[in-house]
Amino acid sequence: MLSPRQQHCLDHIGITRWTRAETNTTLPEPLLSDKAVSPQPQLAEPRIEVFIPVSVQPALAEKADNLKNYDLDHWPDLQLAIEACTNCELSQNCTRKVAGKGNTQAELMIIGEAPGQDEDLQGLPFVGRAGQLLDRILQAIGLNTQDVFITNILKCRPPNNRDPKLHEADACAQFLSAQIKFIQPKVILSVGRISAQTLLKDHSPLGQLRTRQHVLTDTNIPLLVTYHPAYLLRNPTQKVKVWHDMKNLKLLLSE
Ligand code: URA
Repeated sequence: MLSPRQQHCLDHIGITRWTRAETNTTLPEPLLSDKAVSPQPQLAEPRIEVFIPVSVQPALAEKADNLKNYDLDHWPDLQLAIEACTNCELSQNCTRKVAGKGNTQAELMIIGEAPGQDEDLQGLPFVGRAGQLLDRILQAIGLNTQDVFITNILKCRPPNNRDPKLHEADACAQFLSAQIKFIQPKVILSVGRISAQTLLKDHSPLGQLRTRQHVLTDTNIPLLVTYHPAYLLRNPTQKVKVWHDMKNLKLLLSE
């Protein structure tokens, strides 16, 4: 049963058919029972290899030299290093670097794609319409921004919000790796195709990736995939799937 507050939150984010999802309350059943995605093998204890790229490509090595005086294991230095980074051309055109926001001791780390226009102007991730929807989705499972740390694959906005290029994600990877190492989240939630495919090094469709529980290699951190809130703004009927994913997430966090 949903509490009145949960019901209110669902109404708030526009999920109108949530009562049907309620027929599956045990996880991972909600993921498996999702008829709109292709069937996946049982989720027993899948251990999907996940690669977080940490190496800087040779062509970038010289530029990366400008970061050699920063200790990425030291949080304030990490922020400064992101500010100072010129490892790819995106740094030349963004208004502000967007390192991340939230609680560095959070159990949940959310990783999106890249800053958009609002984020670029404010220097904070997920502050535009998609971010507001993400906040409401988190509220629906009883979390607020203090319960999470939110960041992106890229710390600089790509022009016209185009997809990140491989070398841009590679150039930023050392920062994301350092953030994960420092925060040591209990669970990572990857939102959207770009985030999931980059983190997992797996170009399967997002609809498939979200039906499996992954593990971040070398860390044993469980990683879940869900739709990007910007996609939900365009395709509100998909919100019911995200509600399934959120219940799965909540369960993982409570283990
Ligand atoms: N979309 C993202 O992936 N990240 C943001 O910070 C904002 C929108």
